[in-house]
Amino acid sequence: MNTINTMTALTIDTLKVQLKEWKGCDLAKTACAVLGEGNANAEIMFIGEAPGEQEDKLGRPFVGPAGKFLDELLNSIGLKREDVYISNVVKYRPPANRDPTPEEKAACMPWLKMEIALIKPRIIVPLGRHALGHFFQKLSITEAHGKPQKLTDSVTVFPIYHPAAALHNGGLRQALYDDFKALKSFLDAQK
Ligand code: URA
Repeated sequence: MNTINTMTALTIDTLKVQLKEWKGCDLAKTACAVLGEGNANAEIMFIGEAPGEQEDKLGRPFVGPAGKFLDELLNSIGLKREDVYISNVVKYRPPANRDPTPEEKAACMPWLKMEIALIKPRIIVPLGRHALGHFFQKLSITEAHGKPQKLTDSVTVFPIYHPAAALHNGGLRQALYDDFKALKSFLDAQK
């Protein structure tokens, strides 16, 4: 099935079932579908790049080494995975974890849009440049990380480096902790 059926009543669970049948992205030939997961009423939604090896095996987002670090970062500001919703721009693992192509990102975009429409987060946290590019094509993650960006009257985008970046470049670890601290201050100021 290459089309997406938007006529059935949509929930995250029905989306998951539909995504498994969808073949509109070439990556579906070599990888398993991984939709987002988490609290369907979450105020905060985290968006990564694409599943990696563990995510492809288990069919769940952020369950490998980058996911373990994301859990640590969430815990550092008093949040648990169950409090938030976590997804990806691309719904399949690119071979050998290469960067997703513009075509793959465009093909998977309707799924991310439907997830955002269902969750209705108040704060969207793009993790890294691929997710940031979905919202603001001209912003660089190096300049924008840790700084809230208004998307609409009711939605703020709060870009943060991808946790996997700190696994390759230890110098970014502290920047990620600092950005999560800034995210917490931003959240607290909204109360
Ligand atoms: N990296 C991502 O961007 N997403 C995952 O789900 C895992 C690692």
